[in-house]
Amino acid sequence: MSSDAAWQELHFTARKDQVEALEEWLFERGALSVTLEDQADQPLLEPGPGETPLWDAVRVVALFGGEQDLTPTLNAVPVDLATGVPSASEPVADREWTRVWEDQFHPLQMGERLWICPSWTPPPDPDAVNIMLDPGLAFGTGTHPTTAMCLRALDGGIDPGMRVVDYGCGSGILGIAAARLGAIAVLAVDNDPQAITATRDNAARNQVPDTCLSTVLTGDVVIDAWAESAEWVVANILAGPLVSLAPQLTALMAPGGRLLLAGLLADQANEVIEAYAPTVGLKVVDQQDDWVLLAGTRY
Ligand SMILES: C[S@@+](CC[C@H](N)C(=O)[O-])C[C@H]1O[C@@H](n2cnc3c(N)ncnc32)[C@H](O)[C@@H]1O
Repeated sequence: MSSDAAWQELHFTARKDQVEALEEWLFERGALSVTLEDQADQPLLEPGPGETPLWDAVRVVALFGGEQDLTPTLNAVPVDLATGVPSASEPVADREWTRVWEDQFHPLQMGERLWICPSWTPPPDPDAVNIMLDPGLAFGTGTHPTTAMCLRALDGGIDPGMRVVDYGCGSGILGIAAARLGAIAVLAVDNDPQAITATRDNAARNQVPDTCLSTVLTGDVVIDAWAESAEWVVANILAGPLVSLAPQLTALMAPGGRLLLAGLLADQANEVIEAYAPTVGLKVVDQQDDWVLLAGTRY
């Protein structure tokens, strides 16, 4: 089926581990661009056992020329590359397509000093702390409320020379922002090897050297070497993991250090606050949509 519009899109839902192969397959079928967005813009509750975790569901949007007949492509989608059935093709007018991209991925100011800019856009304020990111990487582009709240808090709190842990680093956006705001040493931790690769790539793109930002998988001995030394620990994960991780995260904090937790909904705040109460007095310090940001200082 071809369309009179200048462009047409196909929409898929895929798991994180399917995305790379799906992207490759779509380009082979003639896609002009493939955009990844997390499916988490809706404040979904904690996934149940066996369900796809919130951050693992990726919305994949493939853009094709308006003249291409997409029926053969729709009929040939390999079953192991997406979850569920892709949407029928949707025509996208030329102007509308441009607007969609501009709406979603324009430079975003986070607090006073920090801007998150799509890699193809000149930063609006060249003298600001500009983090250049490719929105193709969905887990941490700054557009999600939880990431945005963390970035604003880092902007207001990171001073030169600080040591910072970004636990659940995803794209590395928070750790990179901390480094660019003056942190002298940043430890970026994730349990997903793809996040480690993305963080390294994004750090290099933003001129953050390995000597400043180290990336490690959970369980790495380097994490133990950071015990009681971080002036800031930031973790944007879901409420359940944040509760379980309380001993590990607080063990990293220097006395008087700050803890920033995001990824939880307003009605999950008390459960998380209680889990940290023995070592850190957490309070809700920000809210965007239904998401809240907790911050506190280690006793
Ligand atoms: C919501 S993303 C946050 C990405 C980025 N820090 C941001 O703020 O946009 C959560 C990240 O935490 C990671 N993660 C989830 N559970 C974890 C755990 N138990 N230990 C370490 N990382 C975890 C995921 O792989 C994912 O990269």
